[in-house]
Amino acid sequence: MKKLVSVSIAVVSLLGMMSAVQADVKTYRTACAACHAYGAPGPKVGDKAAWKDRIAKGMDALYTSALKGTAKGMPPKGGRMDLSDAEIKATVDYMVAESK
Ligand code: HEC
Repeated sequence: MKKLVSVSIAVVSLLGMMSAVQADVKTYRTACAACHAYGAPGPKVGDKAAWKDRIAKGMDALYTSALKGTAKGMPPKGGRMDLSDAEIKATVDYMVAESK
């Protein structure tokens, strides 16, 4: 019985992780891909060279850029002010993970 409980907890937490990942991909596709999927105007997700120097600044700097925008064309929250800070950060995590 104990074993069954821990197996089901493992399955539930795995499913939870999977849906979190899918939510990030969905946010990326709907809110960010228009500028980040082709190399212009934003750095292309998956292009390691385009992200190397950015990733080197550290995640906090990238979160701040994504949340507050940058002078070089990244709009605050990609223009999606309806998204929470946590959703934006999770999407940055996804973009960085795909780009290194
Ligand atoms: C209207 C176009 C546009 C949209 C939409 C957009 N971005 Fe960007 N993004 C840019 C541009 C342009 C840059 C490069 C800005 C720079 O170098 O300062 C950028 C840069 C970034 C960077 C790197 C910032 C840095 O400090 O190097 C991150 C992280 C980022 N965007 C995340 C996102 C996320 C997350 C979304 C969706 C919620 C998003 N962007 C949507 C245009 C966009």
